Amino acid sequence: MKVLLLCGGEGTRLRPFTHSIPKQLLPVVNKPILYHILEWVARTPLREIVIVTGENQGVFQQTVGDGSRWGLKISYVCQPRPLGLAHAVLTAETALGKAPFLMYLGDNLLEESPEEYLSDFEKKRLDSLLLLRKVPDPENYGIAEIKGDRVLRVVEKPEKPPGNLALSGLYLFSPAIFQSIRNISPSARGELEITDAIQNLLDRKKKVEYRLLTGWWLDTGSPDALLEANRRLLGKVAPASLGRIINSRVDGCLYLDKESLIENSKINGPVYIGAGCRIKDSTIGPWVTVGDGGTVTGSTLKNSILFSGARVENFALHQSIIGRRALLTGGHRPDQADAAPLQPFSRLLLGDDGVVS
Ligand code: TTP
Repeated sequence: MKVLLLCGGEGTRLRPFTHSIPKQLLPVVNKPILYHILEWVARTPLREIVIVTGENQGVFQQTVGDGSRWGLKISYVCQPRPLGLAHAVLTAETALGKAPFLMYLGDNLLEESPEEYLSDFEKKRLDSLLLLRKVPDPENYGIAEIKGDRVLRVVEKPEKPPGNLALSGLYLFSPAIFQSIRNISPSARGELEITDAIQNLLDRKKKVEYRLLTGWWLDTGSPDALLEANRRLLGKVAPASLGRIINSRVDGCLYLDKESLIENSKINGPVYIGAGCRIKDSTIGPWVTVGDGGTVTGSTLKNSILFSGARVENFALHQSIIGRRALLTGGHRPDQADAAPLQPFSRLLLGDDGVVS
């Protein structure tokens, strides 16, 4: 069995960040989302991976390579335009060959291991196994209508949802899916939808079953979802103190990487500080990641992500994402008697190399 990782798409909801980094390579807890996924795959028995990218394949090859560092074997396929998930699957048909495959959306993170589903899928020789999860807003997802063990139908973003069980970012397919994709036409939004292809499997009386996911599943496709992924993964980080802490107070879990310094500051974990960072006269946390080479001075940060090399001086930020090498400076300086009173918390989504001063 192979793994198909879908890393094309436009990532419009994550602009401005996706102007300079494909969303699957955006960092969560100082590591690209795709690395978290590859670590997840490496914990399964699956070894062969096909990654579908857009025209930006070079940056994936540079960042991820041939997969040997995870003990995986990665090959790449280019989908020149993002014409839908089912279109991406069809693009990878030759690379996937006749093997059944696990399809994983490259911007999703899942907690649980798929081993139980893999063996069920193989033993029962299914054509598809859908992993479903209850959601509060079914009109925003592909939804499966079920009865007992059976999947009756699947619909994409229904106006009147026939239930609240959404398709997650993980699917298992036999090669029968390729014919089903050939049988469907683009949807109203011009995409070949994977839900339509699954519906076609059902119409052709192919063997489609479902399982309910029990652990968490995150689609990291929007800024709020990225911040939630940051919170989830921070909750799993073990504390470490590889850098120096001077005259500061640390409550809760802190991961402090090498060659980093925290001085005259207060840390409210969980907080992750990457390598080569300087934190001075600041209050950081909870739920904050500062990427490698970051600098934070005279600031308060909560529930935020700073990508590598970002610099924040005299700002109070919450629910913010600050791009690589971005610079935020000139806010309130606590050491100036005539300075303006401390600003209320700001929410900023500032792209790579952005400047606010
Ligand atoms: P989406 O999040 O549905 O689409 P998108 O990446 O275009 O994002 P946005 O809506 O913000 O513009 O895609 C889910 C995953 O599937 C993601 O990793 C990108 C990938 N994908 C492809 O590989 N090919 C495609 O044609 C599409 C639409 C998505």
